[in-house]
Amino acid sequence: MKKVEEDKNMKIAILGLGTVGSGVVELLQINHEKISQSIGETLTVTHAFVNDVTKQRDVDLTGITITDDINTIYESDVDLVVEVMGGIEKTRAIIQRFLANGVHVVTANKDLLALHIDELSQLANQHKVVLAYEASVAGGIPVIRGIQTGLNSNQISQVLGILNGTSNYILTRMTQDGWDYQAALNKAQALGYAEADPTNDVEGFDAGRKIALLSRLAYNRSIQLDHVKHRGISNVEVVDLDYANQAGLVMKLLGKSRHDADKDMVSVNVEPVLLPMTHQLAHVNDAMNSVFVKGNGVGEVMFYGPGAGGLETASAIVSDVMNITSATQQANKIPNQSATIVADQTARSYYVRLAEKPHDSESLAEIVANDQDFVAITTVLTPTELEQLEKTAEVLAAYPIEGKEWS
Ligand code: NAP
Ligand code: HSE
Repeated sequence: MKKVEEDKNMKIAILGLGTVGSGVVELLQINHEKISQSIGETLTVTHAFVNDVTKQRDVDLTGITITDDINTIYESDVDLVVEVMGGIEKTRAIIQRFLANGVHVVTANKDLLALHIDELSQLANQHKVVLAYEASVAGGIPVIRGIQTGLNSNQISQVLGILNGTSNYILTRMTQDGWDYQAALNKAQALGYAEADPTNDVEGFDAGRKIALLSRLAYNRSIQLDHVKHRGISNVEVVDLDYANQAGLVMKLLGKSRHDADKDMVSVNVEPVLLPMTHQLAHVNDAMNSVFVKGNGVGEVMFYGPGAGGLETASAIVSDVMNITSATQQANKIPNQSATIVADQTARSYYVRLAEKPHDSESLAEIVANDQDFVAITTVLTPTELEQLEKTAEVLAAYPIEGKEWS
């Protein structure tokens, strides 16, 4: 353990005191001694920036100046800012100002980072401060650091993950308990998992931003967010989850990306995928997240843990703060090349629910149901071959299957 030096005290401002911001204050309080012993200095939250200074908060804010005027914090002597207020343009300007003033920034804001991380990292490097963002992907799981430092000896060719806790919670309740979509979403919101606008969670935008950030690190390529294709879960029907279950499959919203190093092409997308029960990701339930990374040295690595929640996300944020105080500072790495993003052309089997049995059933490997609905698993099809099938029969639902093939 390091000796805690009396005069070494890092002053921190927290922008936002909602689910995550309150979690950060609480974690710093309950682990105060452990943290200061570990880094050899104390961490003190001196300021917090919020919308509504009169709001009652469930956390002890003694000694913290609460303000709705950001100038109070610009004019303070804080060493580091934790940004957990969310938002894009206004927040970007605030972060720019802190970085330019030589203040380290720790953020959980994937919406902002997925668009502006290169620019903000450059600004941080220019002013010799750190922009850290472990909490922006997969909440409490140290997957950013895992890729950045733990797997940096590998050529990474694939990243695959359950990256949105809200969608995973909704799919789990629909699959295991038969809840309808709206009831499950309401509960996910009440538990603090969902974004202010849950459209981002359920339509795959949030997972898209996270898989873009992970792909940027994994392949060292800038990723244009508007090239990331999304399909969300808002149209998923319980009937398909039940039929899939009969076929030994379970649905997960997956962020997927591959890097073909020979052609230097990257595919990145988000879609609901069916997994065989034997697949490790099939057992990642509730708001838990999990990320698979494939490297040419290590093979397959899997990260698993809480993807959302106050204290869980605070775990990653406080760890970033501690690493800034104690680490040998490294410049923020910025890819020197943009990825050429291509559509994923991987051939796979699909779950299909059709209005009627198709005349040509050559591409069907297994029939799951043939009474009210016609439900089948296809042979291994390319996306183009799936489109052909869709032209011969009215497809009511179609989901790719990952990790198992039918012939
Ligand atoms: P939240 O509960 O909605 O809290 C947002 C906080 O920011 C509130 O305290 C709010 O003030 C304050 N705020 C928002 N806009 C502001 C503005 N314009 N000026 C001043 N204060 C403002 O959000 P959250 O769930 O904690 O999420 C915060 C960030 O972490 C987001 O970027 C989110 O994507 C990310 N994140 C969240 C989770 C999670 O599990 N929730 C996990 C990982 C990352 P008032 O309280 O006064 O309204
Ligand atoms: N709304 C996000 C989720 C929070 O459900 O995963 C964590 O980023």
